[in-house]
Amino acid sequence: MILERSNAINLNDLRNQLGNINNRPDIQELSKILRMYQLYQAGQKEISTKLENLDSEFQVNYAYNPIHHMESRMKKIQSLAKKAERKGSDFTVESIEKNIHDIAGIRVITNYIDDIYKIEELLTSQTDVTLLRRKDYLKHPKESGYRSLHIVVQVPVFQSKGPVNVPVEIQIRTVGMDMWASLEHKLRYKTNSDSNLVDKYGNQLKGYADELEDIERGMQDIHKKLI
Ligand code: GTP
Ligand code: MG
Repeated sequence: MILERSNAINLNDLRNQLGNINNRPDIQELSKILRMYQLYQAGQKEISTKLENLDSEFQVNYAYNPIHHMESRMKKIQSLAKKAERKGSDFTVESIEKNIHDIAGIRVITNYIDDIYKIEELLTSQTDVTLLRRKDYLKHPKESGYRSLHIVVQVPVFQSKGPVNVPVEIQIRTVGMDMWASLEHKLRYKTNSDSNLVDKYGNQLKGYADELEDIERGMQDIHKKLI
């Protein structure tokens, strides 16, 4: 039983915390944004549960497990406001729904490269899950060397007045790709400008991403030969 309940959010406090952004919503709009946020959080839980159920099914029925681990995060309201501002969009429910797809995010880290597509297929073939967007940075790695499969799926959340469809962003990548992305991300923070890192070390970092892919393909080949 879960007894812990967080205090109700004070809209005035939250609005003040947003500071002097030029797209600061009024209290009424902020209240709508919070309702939307709660829905997205529920959507994230629905998808997380689906992934956890697939994971435990694999554990029981098969000799191996495609999922290494999972992480989930909700974009903070403040970051959401900043992102909308950066994109030149209003900070309103309507505009957020149109322009921002990663409010609710889940990262699935797989053991092998093929597992990425297996997870995608197992999830999107479920009758209540609809694929909305898909970016395959494995087939087409980013300029930086970044590799991952990004999908946005829609899932119904059952509210007191009926179901509402909610988008959830899922990034699926292997342990190697995740290691590269998290270290490269930290390096970006360490330098004062992205171009500094790219100019000096871009090729080297991209080379490491390529090498990691070779290694992971090699390990996957061994794995396939063994089962
Ligand atoms: P935004 O989400 O609005 O930035 O744009 P988008 O929808 O085009 O996003 P994109 O598909 O580029 O994915 C953005 C996310 O992918 C980021 O939040 C990172 O988690 C990750 N990402 C993309 N490119 C890189 C990269 O070069 N390095 C690292 N470490 N992560 C990356
Ligand atoms: Mg994003």
